[in-house]
Amino acid sequence: MPAHVVVGAQWGDEGKGKVVDLYTEFADVVVRYQGGNNAGHTLVVERDGKPDKTVLHLIPSGILHDGKRCVIASGVVVDPAICLGEIDALQERGYLQDPEQLIIAEDASVIMPYHCALDLAREAARGDQKIGTTGRGIGPCYEDRVARRAIFVRDLFDRDVLRAKVAPILAEKNMLLAHYGEETYDLDELTEQMCGYGERLRPFVKDARAFIREELQRDRQLLFEGAQGTLLDVGLGTYPFVTSSHTTAAGVCVNTGVAPNGLDQIVGISKAYCTRVGGGPFPTELDDEVGERLRQVGNEFGSTTGRPRRCGWIDAAALRYAVRINGMTGLAVTKLDVLSGLETVKIAVGYTDGQGNEWDEPPMNVDVLAGVEPVYEEMPGWSQDITDVRQWEDLPTAAKRFLERLATILEVPVVLVSVGPARAETIVMRQLHR
Ligand code: IMP
Repeated sequence: MPAHVVVGAQWGDEGKGKVVDLYTEFADVVVRYQGGNNAGHTLVVERDGKPDKTVLHLIPSGILHDGKRCVIASGVVVDPAICLGEIDALQERGYLQDPEQLIIAEDASVIMPYHCALDLAREAARGDQKIGTTGRGIGPCYEDRVARRAIFVRDLFDRDVLRAKVAPILAEKNMLLAHYGEETYDLDELTEQMCGYGERLRPFVKDARAFIREELQRDRQLLFEGAQGTLLDVGLGTYPFVTSSHTTAAGVCVNTGVAPNGLDQIVGISKAYCTRVGGGPFPTELDDEVGERLRQVGNEFGSTTGRPRRCGWIDAAALRYAVRINGMTGLAVTKLDVLSGLETVKIAVGYTDGQGNEWDEPPMNVDVLAGVEPVYEEMPGWSQDITDVRQWEDLPTAAKRFLERLATILEVPVVLVSVGPARAETIVMRQLHR
C-alpha cells in the first residue's frame, strides 16, 4: 500500500518537517492528519544558491515542492486566520501558485476565536497545574468536535448556516468567558469575520477523504505527516500532559479514513537526545550544563511559542514504547551533530524507582513516571564536526556505535540520520519504498 507515515517518536519537535520535506521527493501527496497551529515545522531549503528558511504551522511542508499536492485532513483543527496568513506568505514568496496544490478538508474543525480565548483563560486559571499549552485553542476546539458541536470549514461559506450553528454555542462560550473575567464575543461580528475567512479559503476546500481514497486507488504515493509526538497522544501519551489529538500512526486511520492495514512504512523521528515543552514528567531531563549545552547548540527554543525547551538524554525506554505502539518500521535520528564534542553520551534503557521496581517502557501513570530514575548506558562520544558527513561510513566510529546501539535496543533499523538543518545535511540509509 502506498501510504507511508512520518510520526514523532518523542514529545514533538523531533525535526519531522525536514524528514517529511526529504521524503516528499518520493511522494505524490502529503497529508497533515491531526493537530493544528500548535505545531511548527522549520524548513531550510536551498533557493537561488542560498539557504532559505520557512516556518509552517499548519500547511504540510510538502508545499515547498512544485507539483506535490498537500492535504489538511479532517482531523486537523484549522485556525482560518493562521491558514490564510500561511497561504499569503507562501504565495508572496513564489510557492503555491496553483490553488489545486492545497486541499483543505471541508469537515476539518475550525478554531474559533473563543477557543483561543478559553485555552488561555483556562491555563491562567490552572496556576501551577498548567499543562503548558501553546494557547492556540487546540484543546477547546477538539473538545467541541468530540461534543458534536464543531464548526466545520464548509460552515464558513454560508452566513445563515454559520449564524444558526454558532448562536447556541456562543451563548455557552460567552458564559464561560465571563466566568474567567474575559471579554465575550458578539454573534453578528463573529459570523461576519468567520465568513470573510471562509470566502478566501473556499478555493482550497474539498472532500479530502474522497481525494485521499481516490489517490490511493490510483496507487499514488501518499505521505502522512504527524504533528507533535507519540508521548503527546491524547490516548496513549503522558496524560494529562498531552495535546488533544491522536498523534500516533493510528491517528492517520481515524482522521483520514485509511484502514489500519493500509499503512506501509511508518518512520518514527527521534532526536539524538530528547526535549519537551510544557509540563509533565521527563525522566531523562538534565538541569545541568549538559542540558544547557543541548539547548544552546540545538537551538531548542519553540518555533511556535519561542519557549525554551527542556532538554535531556535520549530515552530508549520511551522510544521502545513509541516503536511498539506506532508499528514503526524505521527510525530517523535527527540532530546527531548536536552531540558532537561531548566526552560521553548516554542512552536511557529503562527506569527504576529505587525500591526494586523496574520498567523497560514508561509507566503510563504520570505520577509514577514522575518518580522514576532512568537507567543509563554510557558510551564514548565523538569530537569531530559531522555536519559535512553524507555517508554512514564517514561517521566517527563512536557515532556509529551510538546509532547501532539504539537500533539494537529498539529492534528497528535507523533509516536516516540528520546532521544539520539543511536538506543536504542528511545521511539516508534507506528510502521509502516506491
Ligand atoms: P496544546 O497542543 O497547545 O493543547 O498543548 C498541549 C501540550 O502539547 C503542551 O505541553 C504543549 O507544549 C505540547 N505541544 C503542542 N504542540 C507541540 C509541538 O508541536 N511540539 C512540542 N510540543 C507541543
